[in-house]
Amino acid sequence: MSPKKKIVKRVKAKKKAVEVKEALLLQPPRGMRDILPQDQPYWQQVRRVTEKAAADFGYRRIDIPLVEFMNLFSRSIGEGTDIVEKEMYSFSTKGGEKVTLRPEFTAGVARAYVQHGMHVAPKPVKLYYIGSCYRYDRPQEGRFREFFQFGCEALGEQDPVLDAQMIQMGWRVIFQLGIRNVKVYVNSIGCPACQKSFRNLLVHYFESKKQKLCIDCKRRLEVNPLRILDCKEDKCVQVKVNAPQSIDHLCDDCRIHFKELLEYLEELEIPFELDSTLVRGLDYYTKTIFEFIPTLPSRDESVSENEERIKKNALGGGGRYDGLVKMLGGEDTPAVGFSLGLDRLVAEMKKLGAKFYREPKPKVFLAQLGTFAKRKSLRMFEALERAGVMVAESFGRGSLKSQLKVADRLGVEITLILGQKEALDGTVIVKDMASGNQEIIDAEKMVDEVKKRLKK
Ligand code: HAM
Repeated sequence: MSPKKKIVKRVKAKKKAVEVKEALLLQPPRGMRDILPQDQPYWQQVRRVTEKAAADFGYRRIDIPLVEFMNLFSRSIGEGTDIVEKEMYSFSTKGGEKVTLRPEFTAGVARAYVQHGMHVAPKPVKLYYIGSCYRYDRPQEGRFREFFQFGCEALGEQDPVLDAQMIQMGWRVIFQLGIRNVKVYVNSIGCPACQKSFRNLLVHYFESKKQKLCIDCKRRLEVNPLRILDCKEDKCVQVKVNAPQSIDHLCDDCRIHFKELLEYLEELEIPFELDSTLVRGLDYYTKTIFEFIPTLPSRDESVSENEERIKKNALGGGGRYDGLVKMLGGEDTPAVGFSLGLDRLVAEMKKLGAKFYREPKPKVFLAQLGTFAKRKSLRMFEALERAGVMVAESFGRGSLKSQLKVADRLGVEITLILGQKEALDGTVIVKDMASGNQEIIDAEKMVDEVKKRLKK
């Protein structure tokens, strides 16, 4: 091959390689998705109900960055947890900082609490949030890599009444969304003192069964033995059936705290299940932990309640984290919180055919013909909106006929028609869509007239 041909071939190959590299995949990365307009009413409903509950209980909104320093999560959620070990979207910035897309909110909220000196505010400091989280998990039903959480955190109060209030709020939101087939599972994993002796017992127990554990759990036995309890590998699930349970090893203080919480839940008539195998996959928890799990209309009796819980996707969960703020450099601050997974709430609502929020529909349509009329109708549109009247229009459409078709399709009560003549005369035609009657009115009085007719 001649040198010239060789060069041409090389250039062509290079061009092709660039093309391959730049091929555009018309889809988001795996585990992420668009929420299309037809699904928005469900999301809107979830946002309305959650934000209303937060306001009713006195929680104020906080927004935190989507990206935080990586060590915020590795320290607070804990080395040895699935989230930190396998699921974080971490990367180095151009400036060399190691950062992570938030896999959850609690760590970031606690960081903000310390950073902004919120400890001086009246206690408890009640905060809520809503937004996206990122976990590089294996996508499957109800599990995404980008998902959305609503959550509340109350910082600065150790009374178990707050733990109960968190469960009450989560329960209320789920109920108000029309989801009734839910159970609350609660447990206590105690304070650091109880956890220390419990950890020793666990190590002792699992050491004797080490051969039966998965590779990850063999390592966890050294690093973080408590995490073996939330391993979902079949063989580990078998081994942990007879493992010691935290609830049997609580100190007096933690036992009383837990007992009081259960009494509050009884008072609130929230159906709960005490589940001593519940551990949750985050290290910052102390004392109370809980989860909201959907139940099937009929239970598979061959499966234990515990196994059933593990298999299901929780709609939400939370617990107390009395040591987190101090660990991040703040004052000793007891705290408790919960988060709900919005994607799972929406999925459950759809499954149950639950009601969703319907946007209010416009009652007036504004039709116009000609450039001058169009200019005038822009003003009319503004005047009606300011007066609180929802208006639809199709400024881009040509003929009056096609505009009236749109008005018909929208089911409005009144159509205002502004032609060149009306625009010059300072009038407007009001068409009653039900009767088809038309009347010419003074444009100055248009807003009052429309309001009067809508009232009728
Ligand atoms: P979490 O249990 O990891 O807790 O997440 C809370 C909820 O987020 C889950 O119950 C679930 O509904 C939803 N969720 C989690 N991962 C996914 C996923 N991959 N796809 C879809 N939904 C998911 C926390 O995040 C704690 N920060 C809760 C908390 C707040 N504890 C105290 N305060």
